[in-house]
Amino acid sequence: MKKLLGKNAVITGGNSGIGYAAAQAFAAEGARVAILGRRRQAVDEAVAQLGPSAFGVVGDIGDLSTHDRMMAELGERFGAIDIYMGNAGMNNIEPSAAVGIDSYDTQFGTNARAVFFGVTKALPRMRDGGSIILTSSIATAKVLENHAVYAGSKAAIEAFARAWALEFKARKIRVNVLSPGPTDTPILEKLGVAESDRAAFEQGMASAIPLGRLAHPDELARAALFLASDDSRFITGIVLRVDGGMALT
Ligand SMILES: NC(=O)c1ccc[n+]([C@@H]2O[C@H](COP(=O)([O-])OP(=O)(O)OC[C@H]3O[C@@H](n4cnc5c(N)ncnc54)[C@H](OP(=O)(O)O)[C@@H]3O)[C@@H](O)[C@H]2O)c1
Repeated sequence: MKKLLGKNAVITGGNSGIGYAAAQAFAAEGARVAILGRRRQAVDEAVAQLGPSAFGVVGDIGDLSTHDRMMAELGERFGAIDIYMGNAGMNNIEPSAAVGIDSYDTQFGTNARAVFFGVTKALPRMRDGGSIILTSSIATAKVLENHAVYAGSKAAIEAFARAWALEFKARKIRVNVLSPGPTDTPILEKLGVAESDRAAFEQGMASAIPLGRLAHPDELARAALFLASDDSRFITGIVLRVDGGMALT
């Protein structure tokens, strides 16, 4: 029996990396999947792979009308939501003294504010007993150089998740955090790591990870599937670290 048969899932950032891997895992377990991302071509390509019931919305989650568009289309196509994965995020690596207001606002706007309003706008469409998953980061557990703003924005959503786990308990909606360590996704290129420096970058990261390598997006997707499905039915309010033990070092 498929684990998510008859379930409807929304994944922000479902056109790339961890979100796309989660979308594939959810679809393989029978869910209908709606994804949201900025790059139209990547959204269209992902939707084509996710099967005939999948659909995508293109937009910036920092613009709150994007969530309204997603909910309007979702209402027409799926009706209700069982799984909401607030996963889209971004990171500017810079020392605090160099952080401009735009960079600060974009990181908090994308990683915290958009997650907050994405969830509150999805809530009226969520079925009782649903699962909310927020993608945080190792950066909240371990101090990473030049990650202060990113870490703060991700710490905010961990606090939202704890608050919501209690706030939504009457509806049996579970809220958990998925916390990746360094994972081999397109975010590494977006951070500006040149292809020629990639091997040294990955080696440096891997040496800080007890299990000795970066994660594969599929390894995060398996954990997301666990949090999305009944396998985790008695779990709410946790931070599930999928980091090869990095938080321990
Ligand atoms: N990879 C890692 O090492 C790592 C470690 C810890 C935490 N994380 C977190 O994991 C999550 C997924 O990242 P990833 O590694 O899978 O990177 P990724 O492949 O770059 O995926 C990020 C996704 O977020 C979307 N996104 C970013 N900003 C957006 C915006 N303003 N509006 C709409 N969509 C937006 C991107 O869409 P477009 O591509 O269309 O712009 C993309 O689909 C992020 O929250 C990230 O902070 C990643």
